Amino acid sequence: MNSSSFNRRNWLKQTGLGAGALMFGAQVVPWTSKANPAFGMTPLYQPSLIETHKVIERDLIELKARLLANENPYGPSPKAIEALKEAAIKGNRYVYNSSKEFAETLAEKEGVTGKQILISPGSTDILEKFAFATCLKGGNVISADPGYMSIVNTARAIGATWKNIPLKDDYSHDLKAMEKAVDSETRFVYICNPNNPTGTITPIEEIKAFAKKVSKKVPVFIDEAYIELMDGGESAVGLVQEGYDVVICRTYSKIHGMAGLRIGYMVASEERVDKIQELVRTEMGISVTSLHAAIASTKDLEFQEKTKTLNAEARNYVFNSLQDLGYKPIPSHTSFILYPINIPTKDFAEKMLSMGVGIRVFTINDKPYSRVSMGTMGEVKLFVDSLDQITG
Ligand SMILES: Cc1ncc(COP(=O)(O)O)c(C=O)c1O
Repeated sequence: MNSSSFNRRNWLKQTGLGAGALMFGAQVVPWTSKANPAFGMTPLYQPSLIETHKVIERDLIELKARLLANENPYGPSPKAIEALKEAAIKGNRYVYNSSKEFAETLAEKEGVTGKQILISPGSTDILEKFAFATCLKGGNVISADPGYMSIVNTARAIGATWKNIPLKDDYSHDLKAMEKAVDSETRFVYICNPNNPTGTITPIEEIKAFAKKVSKKVPVFIDEAYIELMDGGESAVGLVQEGYDVVICRTYSKIHGMAGLRIGYMVASEERVDKIQELVRTEMGISVTSLHAAIASTKDLEFQEKTKTLNAEARNYVFNSLQDLGYKPIPSHTSFILYPINIPTKDFAEKMLSMGVGIRVFTINDKPYSRVSMGTMGEVKLFVDSLDQITG
């Protein structure tokens, strides 16, 4: 199939969205969190009705601006590419030495021992395997709603229930409510800071105070996928150094621009690392080339700084442009911006796709939203121009 085979009717049919689509009023309604007493019952955040990336992959749609997966348009770093090429010759051997070298590089950076680091092919792998290691016998897990769902989805798939705690009106985690929700069946609390899909943060001091208390009962898992992109972003990794039962999860898909090379890692107590390693060997899923690219990228601070600066420039431009067009974007600390839209999600995504712009759509609290990832200036300008056309 090629891009010309994409047509509206087929797409609606295949995604099951042809009939009975929800209609929304013309007014853009900002997010306000509602109390949701029915834990594990009715998430405020409905995963995207339109899996834009699946439509694109299936129909091989060629995008002019791929702004749907929070990828880094500038990566990988030239030094990472060089290291990757040089490592190709090691491809006949298993990765033991290289993975040890990478874990040691990370241990030094994070101020922990090598045994407190677990490396993996992307942080999705850590999220899923942590859920497996903790939820094999059911129980419940606690996280914010709306929030990033990988770990929760895996936990639910193997029998745990989800206690979804609405974000507060300022889009920060409702840590008091999360603490209250912990019970004897809770397997972990998941915090995503900055949060996806809102792009918002919860003050680090509040997270630390929460984690110190709550980790005495259950592990507190903190996903810091976007922390390097925020100004003054402080990791909670110090809590692991201090011996709390806190798990920090990081990815090379964002600031390092290595989403396709698949590298992530977790920092936690030796016991937590061992619990996962008793079940699976995450490092066996990583290629030697990716490992050496990651080692080189870790040291390439110039590339990371460049990504951060260019990302912030694009983010400012998109934020201001959205406001100029009459939208109410949520101020973001990440490489994406969430904004309420005033047409049904499927129509919005389809119109943007027809102009070669891939974005994501979500239904949150029964309202339609779109999330746009940052791209190059050229890409985000195309996004704004396309939005202008469909808005006007
Ligand atoms: C909050 C968060 N965590 C984890 C991931 C997974 O990243 P990866 O598996 O590419 O490391 C993402 C990807 O977008 C994310 O947004």
